Amino acid sequence: MSQRTFSIIKPDAIRKGHAGAILADIEKAGFKIVAIKKLSITKPQAEGFYYVHRERPFFGSLTEFMSSGPIMALVLEKDNAIADLRKLMGATNPANAEEGTIRKKYASSIEENAIHGSDAEDTAKFEIGYFFAGHEMV
Ligand code: CMP
Repeated sequence: MSQRTFSIIKPDAIRKGHAGAILADIEKAGFKIVAIKKLSITKPQAEGFYYVHRERPFFGSLTEFMSSGPIMALVLEKDNAIADLRKLMGATNPANAEEGTIRKKYASSIEENAIHGSDAEDTAKFEIGYFFAGHEMV
């Protein structure tokens, strides 16, 4: 069944000029781009987005990194979008990512790992709503 997920092309990938290649990989994998915007977020905005990770030791550094430069926020749609995007992204740590995945190709570390994708339906809903209003999705 058609499903929506949320994704961020992270500051490391934007800085290195990989945004276009990542968007091409996403489209080639059959995702429809329902919404897209390039923006910068503040550290408090990154903290709100990653609220579930607030107790983790990497929370400060992660939210610092995510507010260190422009990102691209995306809403993507296809059958099985949440699981399929995570497969296309590869493992969180690029050292463990499979050949051909976005993180294998473009990520440099477990933190600067090029792309985020929602991990479940409820988080996808929260994350889409954090960045987009209904009228921005087409
Ligand atoms: P993401 O899919 O955006 O979800 C949470 C992010 O936290 C993750 O990608 C990584 O960028 C980061 N992360 C997860 N585990 C670690 C870790 N052990 N050290 C540093 N950053 C991490």
